[in-house]
Amino acid sequence: MLTVLFAAPALWPEYEPHLPAALAEAGLTARIVTEAAPAEVDYIIYAPASPLQDFTPYTRTKAVLNLWAGVEKIVGNPTLTQPLCRMVDPGLTEGMVEWVVGHTLRHHLGMDRHIVNPGHVWDPTCPPLARERPVTILGMGALGSACAEALRALNFPVTGWSRTEKPGQLHGAQGLRQALSTAQILVTLLPKTPETENLLDADRLALLPRGAVILNPGRGALIDDQALLAALDAGQIGHATLDVFRVEPLPQDHPFWSHPKVTVTPHIAADTRAVTSSRVIAENIRRGEAGEPFLHLVDRARGY
Ligand code: NDP
Ligand code: OXD
Repeated sequence: MLTVLFAAPALWPEYEPHLPAALAEAGLTARIVTEAAPAEVDYIIYAPASPLQDFTPYTRTKAVLNLWAGVEKIVGNPTLTQPLCRMVDPGLTEGMVEWVVGHTLRHHLGMDRHIVNPGHVWDPTCPPLARERPVTILGMGALGSACAEALRALNFPVTGWSRTEKPGQLHGAQGLRQALSTAQILVTLLPKTPETENLLDADRLALLPRGAVILNPGRGALIDDQALLAALDAGQIGHATLDVFRVEPLPQDHPFWSHPKVTVTPHIAADTRAVTSSRVIAENIRRGEAGEPFLHLVDRARGY
C-alpha cells in the first residue's frame, strides 16, 4: 500500500471527496495522510503554504506533486532532491481562460464607461471589432496557449512569445520587441524565474503602443511596479489589471489599490480545482508506480 502525504492540510477538506476516488479509479491502493513518518512516504502533495520545508528525511519519496502551476516557492529549496511536478489542471486552465477573456473583453469593449457613467453621457461610439485589436501573450505554455486559442476563437489577432522557438510564435529579445510593439492588450503568463523578473521594465513598457492595457495573471515580479506606475501616470499604459503581486495580500498602502488606472484582483485568476486536479495527481502516481515518466516535471535549471 502506498503512503501519500497530503502536505497542504488546510486544503484537505476540499480534496477528501475527490482524491481517494481518483486514486482508486487509477487502480492504486493508497492511504492518504496529512501526517506521516517521513521514511514511509511514497508521494508528497504540496502547496506553497505547506509547513513541510525540509525534504531531506523523505528518503523513499518518488515525487513531490505541486498543487500550484507556479513553482517558484519550492523549486529553489536545496533540500528537495526528489522529482518535482507542477500542476497542469484542466479546471485551472478553464478558470484562467475565463479570467483572461473576461478582462480582455472589458477593455476591448470599453465597458467601464457605461457601467460607471454618473453624468449619464450618451456616447454612441462603437468599439472596434476584435479582429482590429491585437493581443500579445507573453508565455505560451499550458495557460497562455489555452488563452490564445480562446481569444483567437473570438477573432482577436494573438501574438505569442515564449522562451524557445516554436512555429507561429515569437521568441528571444528581438521577438519580444516585436511582440510588444503591436500589443494593444498585453497578457503576461510567464513563470517567475531569474530571467523573467522585471521583464517589463520602463524600456519595455515604452515599446508598447501608447494607451496599451496590461493584464497580469502571471506573477507580480514580472513587472517593475514603479515603472508601471510611471507609465500609467504618463498615459503610456492605459490600464493595468493585476491579479498577482510581489507581496500578497497586496499591502493596504500600496499605490496600486488607489490608482484610478489599476484594477486589483486578489490572486483569483485561476484556482486548482480539486475534482480535476485529483485525476492529474492520480495519473502521475500511476505513472510513477508503472515506471513511466512523470507528467509536468519541473526543469530545475530553467526554474519552471
Ligand atoms: P508553463 O510552464 O506551461 O508555461 C510557461 C511559458 O512561459 C512557456 O511558454 C515558456 O516558454 C515561457 N517562458 C518561461 N520562461 C521564459 C523566458 N525566460 N522567456 C520567454 N518565455 C518564457 O506554465 P503555465 O502556463 O502552466 O503557467 C504560467 C504561470 O501562470 C505560472 O508559472 C504562474 O506563475 C501563473 N499562474 C497564475 C495563476 C493565478 O491564479 N494568477 C494560476 C496559475 C498559474 P517555453 O514554452 O519556450 O518553455
Ligand atoms: C498557481 C497559482 O501557480 O495559483 O497555481 O498562482
